[in-house]
Amino acid sequence: MALAFRSDAYIDGKWRASAKRFPVYNPATQEVIAHVPDLGAAETEEAIAAAHAAFPLWAAKPAKERAAILRKWYDLMMADLDRLSRLISLEGGKPVAEAKGEAAYGASFIEWFAEESKRAYGRVIPTTTDTRRYVTLKQPIGVCASVTPWNFPMAMITRKAGPAIAAGCTIVLKPPHQTPLTALALAELAEQAGLPPGVFNVVTTENASAVGKVMCESELVRHFSFTGSTEVGKKLGAACIGSTVKKVSLELGGNAPLIVFADADLDLAVKGTIMSKFRNAGQTCVCANRILVEDSIYDAFAKKLSEAVAKLKVGPGDQDGVEIGPLIDQKAIEKVERMVAEALASGATALTGGKKHAAGAQFYTPTVLADVTREMRVNTEEIFGPVAPLIRFKTEDEAVAIANDTPFGLAAYFFTKDIHRAWRVAERIESGMVSINDGIFSNEVIPFGGVKQSGLGREGGVEGLDEYLEPKFVNFGGFN
Ligand code: SIN
Repeated sequence: MALAFRSDAYIDGKWRASAKRFPVYNPATQEVIAHVPDLGAAETEEAIAAAHAAFPLWAAKPAKERAAILRKWYDLMMADLDRLSRLISLEGGKPVAEAKGEAAYGASFIEWFAEESKRAYGRVIPTTTDTRRYVTLKQPIGVCASVTPWNFPMAMITRKAGPAIAAGCTIVLKPPHQTPLTALALAELAEQAGLPPGVFNVVTTENASAVGKVMCESELVRHFSFTGSTEVGKKLGAACIGSTVKKVSLELGGNAPLIVFADADLDLAVKGTIMSKFRNAGQTCVCANRILVEDSIYDAFAKKLSEAVAKLKVGPGDQDGVEIGPLIDQKAIEKVERMVAEALASGATALTGGKKHAAGAQFYTPTVLADVTREMRVNTEEIFGPVAPLIRFKTEDEAVAIANDTPFGLAAYFFTKDIHRAWRVAERIESGMVSINDGIFSNEVIPFGGVKQSGLGREGGVEGLDEYLEPKFVNFGGFN
């Protein structure tokens, strides 16, 4: 059955066509799926102006009314889960079953923040003098601009738009050029849910820098949020602060360690490693990037892991039973090929994989590399592909030192049965999120975010709403 989707941009409650369009590809086949408007600075200004005009009315709505509209948006997403997951898979490449997980995960942010919008509490502060009374109000920050990545075409949008809209803000979104169709499907459902014009705007473009520049420099935009690489995030963050001192939330790169201690349940560790490392073919910021394994169990773990990895089914996301889809584009596959070739040339061994896959030009065989050393790029840089490098360690101190020897600090995982070690290592690891005996943890109720060069701010959880609220202090004076 043909998949129905919108392919025009969405500004101020209207579908916006354009003579200038860019192609969207299926990464499994490199076939063109659609042509989408290639908008620029002028249309971005227009979307920001629409969001600015819509802001006072939306911000003034009682939270209960905003929550009802968001809840409707969530219900529509859940009713449309099948189409949304097929769309995510078609343009992003992940297997449909995994995409269904993303669609439900994405929708959950709208449900969660619909509920949280009613709890944007201020405070009454005990006074310092009997002539005054102090309170804080929490107020929506204003017009927000967001730039989202292709690896989660839906969830990374709802994790930003959900709290922004729930807080009473309005938003202009630039989805990635690889996966704009899911964003437009969300706009379609937002319209059906009754979100007023201008509250949620989608500017599609292939010219990210032109649109990003306007978003960062506009006087009307008060909050900017970005999920993507640290390199780009630093530039955008600097532009936002340097031009107009806007509030910035950044979800940037990671280099997640996954530590397997000798006292771990090895089967659980293998299962957790596969869940973490091979989710979305290794293309997530929280994917385990380097697997640190204690010397005494290194060989046993390497054997079990490589046997399990060799069984992963690779193919187009719409085929039954597929677990590993294509990488997003040619550049991505070339990077993985280069990093693996360098590691092999420097002494690493491929226990399984180590080469492209016959399923097509953008498929890479799930790979386990043994004898990886700390100097290799597969340890120091984010791989963003289905490659698990194994590094040997001898003591807990050494494992923690290797884990922390990176400018990044997004997620970390470790496997142990020792409760004291679990506390100790969780405290010592430098990362925003730590997962013990589990390879996956993401959901709407937790604060997702990193430390060091992995970003600023948190998305999801009770913390997620605060990113879009300003505390205003009010002094009531003149009491006798
Ligand atoms: C990401 O890769 O940035 C998001 C992963 C997640 O939400 O679990």
